[in-house]
Amino acid sequence: MTTLHGRLDELATLGATGEGIDRALFTAPERVARERFAAWSAAAGLRVEQDRAGNVFARLAGREDLPPVQCGSHLDTVRNGGAYDGAYGVVGGLAALERIAASGTRPRRPLEVVAWAGEEGSRFPLGCLGSAVYAGLTPYDEVCALVGDDGEPFPQALHGPTGLLAGVPVRDGFPPPAAYLELHIEQGPVMERDGVRLGVVTAIAGQRRYRAVIDGVAGHAGTIPMAGRADALCAASELVLAVERATREVGEAVGTVGHLVVEPNQTNIVPGRVTLRIDVRSVDDARTLAIEGRLNAAAIAIQAERGVRIALEAIETRAAVPMDARLRELVRGACLPLDPRAADIASGAGHDAMCVAHVAPTAMIFVPSIGGRSHVGDERTAPADLELGVEALAAALVAADRDPAFT
Ligand code: GLV
Ligand code: MN
Ligand code: MN
Repeated sequence: MTTLHGRLDELATLGATGEGIDRALFTAPERVARERFAAWSAAAGLRVEQDRAGNVFARLAGREDLPPVQCGSHLDTVRNGGAYDGAYGVVGGLAALERIAASGTRPRRPLEVVAWAGEEGSRFPLGCLGSAVYAGLTPYDEVCALVGDDGEPFPQALHGPTGLLAGVPVRDGFPPPAAYLELHIEQGPVMERDGVRLGVVTAIAGQRRYRAVIDGVAGHAGTIPMAGRADALCAASELVLAVERATREVGEAVGTVGHLVVEPNQTNIVPGRVTLRIDVRSVDDARTLAIEGRLNAAAIAIQAERGVRIALEAIETRAAVPMDARLRELVRGACLPLDPRAADIASGAGHDAMCVAHVAPTAMIFVPSIGGRSHVGDERTAPADLELGVEALAAALVAADRDPAFT
């Protein structure tokens, strides 16, 4: 199983900043990560193809030409992210397919591992970009209209030197799989705390993301009296605190403002404009909706009090997604012999699985995150737990292939 760790270590060098890993979609290190995945897959005897969203599919042939049993995750990272979020599910999926191929028993269905493009939304403002296109949740035209944070339009990046892979056939219209399984690190502290090594995911929290543009009046920091100001950053600060307050009051939800652009962003100028993004999540969609109501009310109140204009717009809405009951049972059956303490867990993080679940029965397997650390450079999982997750995934893929319920 050393290839699993060797590959993860190799991917961790791509985009390494010293503080973490920067591997946003269609950047040079992300392109190299896709190339490595394609090369490892081809060397393992898998057929490698890509689609025009940048998703890369690696397929182990089955005895019959049926829809595949699929697994996968993503190779892009957040800014200064960790080595396992996403990469583990891709490299672990490949390791599971290699393990099954080496067992000598040919699966009935094709087995496929997918590296989904741009799950993190860290360059183009859409999370789960590749899997959303694949599942038909976001029209391809809409994705083509996206512009990266660096100003590059999606089509230019896709067809540029760090976009689609050279020498890999581009095919569209991949049919949905018979079943989809995603292996991922937990990214939170619960499994470690409870001594659980394999988690059977029950549901993925719904997410709502918003863009708020706050227009005030820029001016001289030394001459404009405090009483006459329409400071966009002061208004933005109130909105940030309103997110925290609304989330706490509604409960069983989380809310974050992690992206904020201040203009003109100079010490001696009263801020004239702030653009920020809000991320709200809960496994109960009624709660995210209730928070939205409170945010709208807060925006109206802040506008009136501070003489600014606030445009609050939803940019991404994904409902909470329960995992498929039968596939979950099958995952539990694969996990329990490997970890008698294997337990159910809800996912607060988003995953490509939440898109694929719209077109196929879907389930997820989690392994613990040391200290619950994720989306940071010191994201870690014990090597033995990484290996156990691959074993569980391989067993679940084989079981799904044999189960007549998944057609
Ligand atoms: C992705 O990791 C997300 O949950 O935002
Ligand atoms: Mn992530
Ligand atoms: Mn992830």
